[in-house]
Amino acid sequence: MAIIDGKRIATELRDELAREVARLKERGITPGLGVILVGENPASVSYVTGKEQACRDLGLYSDNRHLPESLSEERLVEHIRELNADPRIHGILVQLPLPGHIDAQRALMAIAPSKDADGFHPESVGRLLLGRPTFVPCTPNGIVKLLARSGVRIPGSHVVIVGRSILVGRTLANLLVQKSDEGNATVTLCHSHTRDLASLTVQADILVAATGSPSLVTAEMVKQGAVVVDVGVNRIEDPSKKRGFRLVGDVDFDRVKEKASLITPVPGGVGPMTITMLMYNTVQSARRMEEGR
Ligand code: GUN
Repeated sequence: MAIIDGKRIATELRDELAREVARLKERGITPGLGVILVGENPASVSYVTGKEQACRDLGLYSDNRHLPESLSEERLVEHIRELNADPRIHGILVQLPLPGHIDAQRALMAIAPSKDADGFHPESVGRLLLGRPTFVPCTPNGIVKLLARSGVRIPGSHVVIVGRSILVGRTLANLLVQKSDEGNATVTLCHSHTRDLASLTVQADILVAATGSPSLVTAEMVKQGAVVVDVGVNRIEDPSKKRGFRLVGDVDFDRVKEKASLITPVPGGVGPMTITMLMYNTVQSARRMEEGR
């Protein structure tokens, strides 16, 4: 068993991005990211803080808007339109989930597709399904890069994904069946209505858990030598920790690691890649605008 070091691979990618940012700056372009957070959801505050820090580290311009929970949908759309119109901004991210009184789809649709750094606009989703160039959502893209850079060969392999969210499972399935060197996989997409989940997961060469259920994937569900990717980020109360909780994934890491050939830890696996891919999408957008595409 070996552990996939997401932090190290993310750092490698960020070093490559830093060179691209330097090249763009020489041409007078500073890539810029607009981040909108509505309310105080603790996990969202923590993600957004990480995104802002990554922008600072890479020398990107950022416009961070932390708005009150009571914000109306109209006002949110106005903020998005301001960022759409701002030439310093190349990528826009509206942190999800949004408060219940706001229609998230309407907010995502207000983002200019040319600045859709998260890839959640229907135009981006459609382009991805069609195999056209587009912004690829950060977590699925991060998973693919993590596998590729760990020497895992995706084409021809059987990938079993547990969880069908748009943010991760469904989009990852779409990405992995593309006709490409990082695709060409056979994908089984499982979810809460799947019958006899374990009979499917044991067939996986690559098993991806993205459900938000702590320790859902046990050792019996994993084939000897499989590659296991844990996308879960679950907070478990733990009075011995200063923050009062610890993070665990969707995989029973201590037991599954004995069977897996490669496995991602939580934290330090998929998480650092997600933010890096957001930076990647923002820089890519700035480059596209530079090239007038
Ligand atoms: N909430 C959890 N993950 C994400 C993400 O990748 N993008 C956005 N916008 N919100 C999220």
